[in-house]
Amino acid sequence: MSVKECKAESIISLRNVSKFFQGKTVIDDVNLDIYCGETFVIMGCSGSGKSTLLRLMTGAIRPDKGSVALKGRDIAKISSEELDEVRKTFGMTFQYSALLDSLNVEENIALPLREHTQLAEEIIKIIIKMKLSLVGLRGYEEYYPSQISGGMRKRVGLARAIALDPEIVFYDEPTSGLDPVVGGVIDKLIKDLSVKLMITSVVVTHDMHSVFEIADRISMIHKGKVVEVGTPEDIRNSKNEYIRQFINGSPSGPIDFFREDIGMEDVLDL
Ligand SMILES: Nc1ncnc2c1ncn2[C@@H]1O[C@H](COP(=O)(O)OP(=O)(O)OP(=O)(O)O)[C@@H](O)[C@H]1O
Ligand SMILES: [Mg+2]
Repeated sequence: MSVKECKAESIISLRNVSKFFQGKTVIDDVNLDIYCGETFVIMGCSGSGKSTLLRLMTGAIRPDKGSVALKGRDIAKISSEELDEVRKTFGMTFQYSALLDSLNVEENIALPLREHTQLAEEIIKIIIKMKLSLVGLRGYEEYYPSQISGGMRKRVGLARAIALDPEIVFYDEPTSGLDPVVGGVIDKLIKDLSVKLMITSVVVTHDMHSVFEIADRISMIHKGKVVEVGTPEDIRNSKNEYIRQFINGSPSGPIDFFREDIGMEDVLDL
C-alpha cells in the first residue's frame, strides 16, 4: 500500500464515545478519526482523560456509549480472541515505563515475542538486537532497569513496543520526567520510527515542545471532550481560548485552575 493510499484510511475511529467511572463522565461524546501513517497527538491537562482515551483506542477498556472501530471492526462486536489478534498489531509505551525491574533489558523486550510468537530463542535475540539498535541502545541487553537512566528506560519501553513490528504504536507521555534534550531525543526517535517503519503513532502528551515537534495532527481534550483537532499550524493559530491558555501555559483563562484533581487549594495553601 502506498503512503498516499494508506493516509486516506481511518485506522481508528471513535464515534460518540463516552466513558463513565463511578458516575463521573471521564470521556464525553468523543468523535475522532486517526489515519494510517500519521502521528496523532492528544494533548490536554492532567486528568482531562488522555490515558483513558488511549485505553479506549487500544481496546483495553470498552466504551459505555458509542463505538470504537479498530481497522474497521467495532471492538464491542468482536470476540475477545479477535480483539487479541487486532491488539497484537499494536505497540504501547506506558506513562511510567512499566519495565519489569526483575528482568534485564533483553528479557523485558523478549516478553511480547515469547508471549505472542513461536520464534526460536536465537531469532528472538537477533530481533532484540535490531530493536535496541533502532533506539540507540545496542549493547545494553544485560542491564537491569535500575542500572539505566529514565530516558534509557523510556527507550527500552519503545524497543519493547516495536518488538512485534506493530502497525500502530500508542505512547502515553513518552517524554514525561525527562530533561528537554533527552525529551528531544525521544521525540526524534518517535518521528524516525514512524517514518522508517511506516507506523501510525498516537501520542499522549502535555509536553508542548513534543506536541509541535512530532505531530501531523493534534487534538486537545478538556474534561473528556474534544476541544479542537487540527494541524500544528491550525493549533498554533487557533483562537480557541482553551487552546491558547494551554499552549501558553497561562494560569488565567477558561481552564479551571482550582481543579479537584490537582488540589490547587492545597498547593497554594488557601
Ligand atoms: N479506572 C478508573 N477508575 C476511576 N476513575 C478513573 C479510572 N481511570 C481514570 N479515572 C479518572 O478519569 C479521569 C481522567 O483520567 P486519565 O488518567 O485519563 O487522565 P490523564 O489526562 O491521562 O491525566 P494525566 O495527565 O495526569 O496522566 C481522572 O479524574 C481519573 O481519576
Ligand atoms: Mg495519563
